[in-house]
Amino acid sequence: AQSAKESLYIVSQYAAAFFVKQLWETDEGKGIGLSYFKERGFREDILKKFEVGYSPDVWDAMTQSATNAGHKLEFLEATGLSIKNDNGKIYDRFRGRVMFPIHNFTGRIIGFGGRTLKTDKNVPKYVNSPESEIYHKSNVLYGLFHAKKAIRDLDNCYLAEGYADVLSVHQAGIENVVASSGTSLTVEQIKLIGRFTQNITILFDGDAAGIKASLRGLDMILEEGLNVKIVSFPDGHDPDSYMHHVGAGAFKTYLEENRKDFIIYKANVLLKDAGDDPIKRAGIIRDIVESIAKIPDPIKASVFIRESSSLLQIEEQILMGELNKMRSAKV
Ligand code: CTP
Ligand code: MN
Ligand code: MN
Ligand code: MN
Ligand code: MN
Repeated sequence: AQSAKESLYIVSQYAAAFFVKQLWETDEGKGIGLSYFKERGFREDILKKFEVGYSPDVWDAMTQSATNAGHKLEFLEATGLSIKNDNGKIYDRFRGRVMFPIHNFTGRIIGFGGRTLKTDKNVPKYVNSPESEIYHKSNVLYGLFHAKKAIRDLDNCYLAEGYADVLSVHQAGIENVVASSGTSLTVEQIKLIGRFTQNITILFDGDAAGIKASLRGLDMILEEGLNVKIVSFPDGHDPDSYMHHVGAGAFKTYLEENRKDFIIYKANVLLKDAGDDPIKRAGIIRDIVESIAKIPDPIKASVFIRESSSLLQIEEQILMGELNKMRSAKV
């Protein structure tokens, strides 16, 4: 007999195929789901590659279909795809949403993100699979299965926030992209990237939350000993919206021309609200040295100290002194 874990993979695969069929072959799926993706500018080959789907807006269509096909409710419930309410009634977790299946890096489906099509602010934009025997969200990067070869070949990994970002960056012909999706970046996710490359380029959203997350993310990446650069996006754009705004060619050029070293990025972000205030500027210098102090390799750290010295117009020895103070305070 197969293990319980194997059964969870199998029902997840069944559900993914069900959602795909709904999207492409039913009136509701085509009329609501597929037209939604098309309106957002997604190409059919990208939708097929990522196996996106549609969950019908009824109580238990997926659960019915799966159990009729012989799948046990026990396993559907264990993945969170089916939910039993207080009255013992079974319903589908995902209803009336476009579906993004989440693959592990060997390509098996382990969970889902479902995006609402409603603009109602009271409806959560995304519903995600809960943690299960096969889905541990802090250990997963959305898109890694489709990106890992390109990440290795190009020796760089673009790291975005969301499902749509991964699809749109792919659509622009850039395949080395993953998303932390639904969780703030974790050490496990960084280590996972580290199996394929030592170089990460952050592509977070150009809003306040994205900027904050990028500052936190870059420190974590440095602490893991990986190299980090950042591309930021104008006017609240995220990689997805910006790609569709400027087009594939211009988007590619934008990534190449706007990739900033973490020090320059951090200095730009922080200097923006410091103005000429010397006390604030001193704080920023310390803040930047604090990031450099996270780099485990002292030779690499000293290269970044030199870079900051010329950028911030501060003597290298002063920065080096700060660095050493922070390092000894850390142990
Ligand atoms: N997310 C989530 N639950 C939410 C909001 C966001 O899990 N309620 C996750 C999703 O993985 C989402 C990512 O965080 O893709 C980034 O969130 P956001 O920028 O708000 O969404 P987008 O990916 O930009 O979604 P869209 O472009 O479809 O609006
Ligand atoms: Mn486990
Ligand atoms: Mn966002
Ligand atoms: Mn976004
Ligand atoms: Mn978006």
